[in-house]
Amino acid sequence: MNLLDGKLISDRIKAEIAAEVKTKMLDAGKVAPHLAAILVGEDPASQTYVASKEKDCKEVGFISSVYKYPANLSQEKLLEAIRFLNNDPEIDGFIVQLPLPKHIDEHTIIESIDPAKDVDGFHPVNVGRMVLNIPSYLPATPYGIITLLESYKIETAGKHCVILGRSNIVGTPVSILLSRKSKTGNATVTLCNSHTPNLQAIAATADILIVAMGKKEFVTAEMVKKDAVVIDVGIHRVPSEETKSGYKLTGDVNFIDVAKKCSYITPVPGGIGPMTRVSLLLNTLKAAKKEFKF
Ligand code: GUN
Repeated sequence: MNLLDGKLISDRIKAEIAAEVKTKMLDAGKVAPHLAAILVGEDPASQTYVASKEKDCKEVGFISSVYKYPANLSQEKLLEAIRFLNNDPEIDGFIVQLPLPKHIDEHTIIESIDPAKDVDGFHPVNVGRMVLNIPSYLPATPYGIITLLESYKIETAGKHCVILGRSNIVGTPVSILLSRKSKTGNATVTLCNSHTPNLQAIAATADILIVAMGKKEFVTAEMVKKDAVVIDVGIHRVPSEETKSGYKLTGDVNFIDVAKKCSYITPVPGGIGPMTRVSLLLNTLKAAKKEFKF
C-alpha cells in the first residue's frame, strides 16, 4: 500500500503559488490575488474552514478578507453583500461558506454570485461549463482529487471508478470530471447514492473507489477490490485518549483494514483535506489572472 500524501502535494503546489505571486505579481508591481469569504452565523465547522482559508492565503501571499454576519441576516442583506463583492474590483474571487441558515435559499445565493468570481465553482454557469469541458473554476474537493491522482500518475482512462455519495459539491462533480474526455478523465463511472442496492458489491468492483458519504469508517476491506485506489473524502472527529485535544480525525474508510488490501489510499487527516484547500488557492490565482472568459 502507498499513501496518497495530500499534505506533501499541496505543500509543493503552495510553494509554486507563493513563488508565482512574488515573482510575477509583487516584484512586477502588481497586487496579490484577493480572496474574500462570507460567513453567516456561528457554525463551528464553518468558522474553522474560513479561518483555514485565511491562513492558507497568508501562506502564499494572497490578500484575504472575511465578512461575518449574524445567523439572523436576511436573504436580501446577504444578496446585497454579494452584489457589493461582485462589483468590487479589488476582490478577485469570493466564496459564501455553506451551509447557510435555513431561512436563506442556497440556490438563490449561489446564482447571485458573479460566475467570474465564483472560485468555489458552484454557480450553474461554472457547473455547466465543467460538464461541457469548457475551462472554468472546478469545485475544490473534486479538483483536489483529480490533481492528487494526476500527481501520483494514477491512470483514470479505462478504469472503473465507483463513487459513494452524490452531493453537489463532491460526488456529482467528481463523477463528471472522471468521465469527461480529458487527461484526468475517460473513466467509466458508477455514482452511488443511499438508494443503491448492493452498494458493497458495486464498491468491490472499483479500480478507483471514492468515498464521500459522511459515514464514519463505513468502507471495510471486503468492499474493496485487491489493489484498488481508495480516496477517502470523509472527515469525522472521534474521542481519543491518545491526543492532547481529546479527539482524533477519521474518515469514511476504515483505514487500517482497507490499507492492507489496496494499492493506494488517502490518509485522514493529510489526504483530500489539504488538496481541497490548495484547490481554492489555485482557483483564486486563476481568478486574479482572469484565466477564464465569461
Ligand atoms: N462548506 C463545506 N465545503 C464548502 C466549500 O467547499 N465551499 C463553501 N463555500 N462552503 C463549504
